[in-house]
This record gives sequence, structure tokens and C-alpha cells, in this order.
Amino acid sequence: MAKTGHADKHGTAEDALISRVAHALHAESPLIDESNSLPLLRPEDREVVVSGELYRQRCDPSTSPIAPILAGGLASLRFAEDVAHACFQRSVGQSVCLGAGFDTFAFRQREANPEVVFFEVDHPDVQALKRERFDEVGVPDSRRPVFVAVDFETMSLIDALDGAGFDPGALAVFSWMNTLPYLTREATESTLTQLASRTTSSSTLVVNYASDLPYSEAQQKVAHTLAQVTGERREPLRSQWTPEEFETLLERTGFEVVEHLDEQDLMARYFSDRSDGLAPGLPARVVNARRRAS
Ligand SMILES: C[S@@+](CC[C@H](N)C(=O)[O-])C[C@H]1O[C@@H](n2cnc3c(N)ncnc32)[C@H](O)[C@@H]1O
Repeated sequence: MAKTGHADKHGTAEDALISRVAHALHAESPLIDESNSLPLLRPEDREVVVSGELYRQRCDPSTSPIAPILAGGLASLRFAEDVAHACFQRSVGQSVCLGAGFDTFAFRQREANPEVVFFEVDHPDVQALKRERFDEVGVPDSRRPVFVAVDFETMSLIDALDGAGFDPGALAVFSWMNTLPYLTREATESTLTQLASRTTSSSTLVVNYASDLPYSEAQQKVAHTLAQVTGERREPLRSQWTPEEFETLLERTGFEVVEHLDEQDLMARYFSDRSDGLAPGLPARVVNARRRAS
């Protein structure tokens, strides 16, 4: 199934970057500085982003019902980037972004971290669109990741990583953000099992998931908006986990939990001194885990 958009709507991957760039250009204090990613957007998107129109439609908490969704996704990515930087400080030399979409961590960080090999794994359709955009814009090789095309539902991650030159004997940091809700539980478990079998102990995994918890009335409204947005793009939400189920899953597939953050933790870390009211609108769960020694 294509995940690159439907009718006049972008796919969720490209949409997420458009929103992050708008946030970077117009929010009081951006969680991730994507301002240099503007050229990666289509010309017509650049215009509405630069003018501030898209910021008001999507990112400004005072005008947009989508802003709390953006906030959860942004905070998760920021957490993943903070963990990756800490790993780089410890000389971890491989960074793998799973379900990367239009993530720009490699684009922004590769030149500053020449000793790190950056991989991006994503659905073949979305990855082809991103590569096409990189070619159109003329992104130099020095800012590109190693692209690894995988459909988590149907393809082998192990074969793809092996083919891309990933070194299973060297430490890696894996980031798998804002993607699990779009996958079946089976694909999530199979991917984690394959990851664990192909990475050395003490490698790091940061991942978020949609949590199966009772929602407040306000959260139900945000969840309804999210289902509408993803439904219009033909990228339905397919799975949720309770925090206990998710910890058991990680344990079963070979990982141990280092930190398991909820929306309050994200609030304290990334939103507490904001005055624009931006905050995650759904129960957010983000895990920092480590490959167990086998
Ligand atoms: C909401 S986007 C998030 C992209 C990026 N991680 C971010 O936070 O901006 C969801 C991503 O999941 C990927 N995805 C969904 N189903 C997939 C599948 N079956 N195999 C591989 N990737 C998939 C999509 O291609 C897309 O890049």
C-alpha cells in the first residue's frame, strides 16, 4: 500500500516534516531546529510554511486542533535525537532510523558526525519519494544516509540491513518513532525480534507506541482528529499496546527497558517553560531500551 499520500493530501511522513519546518520557523522555541530542511519541501509547501499560514493551521496550539498531535511526535523525535547524541559521545558508530519517512536527523547531523554511519529504513514507496526529492534538490552524498527499503509487514529487515552494510558486531542506536501505530502487532514483534538477532548487546533502541489506556474527554477529541487525519491519507492506525504489554514485548524479543517515559515526563523535559501552550494531547509512551546480553 502506498504511503505517499492520497487525493490532494500528502502522506503522513511528508506532512510530519512540513509541520516540523513550520514549527521551527514560527514557534517561540523549536524543539527541533528544522529551519535548514525547508528546501526539502515542495515549492508550493515552502510558500505556505514560510508565510506562517501552515503554522496557524497545524502547529499553533491557540488555533489548531492538530497541534497537540504534532507536540507528541516532536517530543518523541527530540528524545530520540538526545539519546542518539549521548550514544555518539560513547563512540556508538551506527545510527539507524526505522520508519524514517522524511526524518532529517541524518541530513542535519551526518557532516558533524563523520565517524557515524547513518541508515534510514522505510517503506519502499516513501523512501523512493524521499530519494527523488533529495535528487531534485541536489542533496550532496555527504548529507545522505544509507537508504534501506523495507516493508515491515512483508519483508526481511535482516536481509536488508545485511545488504546495506550494517555491522551486527558493532554498537548501534536504533530510533523507531511515530511508526508503530501504523503497523500490525505481528510486524512490530517480528521487526523487534529481527533487530535483536542482528545487533550486539548494549545497543540502544528508542521507540514510541500508541498506548491502550483510558482517555480523558479532551484526549478522545485529539484521538478522533488523529484518526481523521490518518484515515484521509489512507494510513489507518492499526495497533495500540498497554505499557505492561509493551514492556513484556521488549523483554520477550531481547531488550531491557532503561527508561519508559509518559506524557508527564515529556512535559517536564520539553514543554515546562513554554508560554505558547504547546503540549502533547494524547497519552504518550516513549521507551529507551538496551539489547540484553544473550
Ligand atoms: C507518521 S510517519 C513518521 C515518519 C518519521 N518517523 C517521523 O516521525 O516524522 C510513519 C512512517 O511509518 C512508515 N511505515 C508505515 N508502515 C510501514 C511499513 N509497513 N513498512 C515500513 N514503513 C512503514 C511510513 O512510511 C512513514 O514513514
